[in-house]
Amino acid sequence: MEKHSEHPVPTPDPSETSPAGQTSTKISRRHFLKLSGGGAVSTVILSTGLRAKAAAMPPDVEVFSGNVPLQLKVNGQRRSLTVEPRTTLLSALRNQLEVTGCKEVCNRGECGACTVLLNGRPVLACMMLALDAAGREIVTVEGLVQNGKLDPVQQAFVDRDALMCGFCTPGFVMSVRALLDRNPNPTAAEVRQAVAGNLCRCGTYPRVFEAALAAAKSAGGKRG
Ligand code: FES
Ligand code: FES
Repeated sequence: MEKHSEHPVPTPDPSETSPAGQTSTKISRRHFLKLSGGGAVSTVILSTGLRAKAAAMPPDVEVFSGNVPLQLKVNGQRRSLTVEPRTTLLSALRNQLEVTGCKEVCNRGECGACTVLLNGRPVLACMMLALDAAGREIVTVEGLVQNGKLDPVQQAFVDRDALMCGFCTPGFVMSVRALLDRNPNPTAAEVRQAVAGNLCRCGTYPRVFEAALAAAKSAGGKRG
């Protein structure tokens, strides 16, 4: 499910590494969707019957079953874990790796609280399987802090008091960080567009927009 253009649903890059040592079967996405009646997924889990059918399909999608050893690169560190194939990236980060900056709020792609950067692009961690993040650079809000110093976006949120309960804040920070990485001098309209997939129940939007523009001004909005 794609919330908007700033939060694309990740798709697997065939050139990237899959979790090591796994037995996989490959089927085409179209055939899998026909078989399962499911939504847009990339790494999939099939019952034995479906897997047998999948074996006959053209190669396109990798199929995993059982517990899968996985390595994720999170905030510059390689982390090893074992996941069920159905495990979302958000669950792996929060529940297994104890990286809790990304928040679980709706857990269905609607609020943006779980936003992390994947190879520099903002994605919804609740809508992505952990297996699909293998071989990619994952950055969470914790990873923006360098040598104990807040990222300019984080500092601007603090300075502008751009939060109340704070549940939405890491998601907003990551969306703004991604915006400034590709566009250091955004307009107010571009800021609004960049955070359009992030919801705040406390209504801090005006301060969030202010903070984003302030971060863009400070040090050109670049990371510290
Ligand atoms: S928790 Fe992922 S979009 Fe709401
Ligand atoms: S500060 Fe409470 S949800 Fe945004």
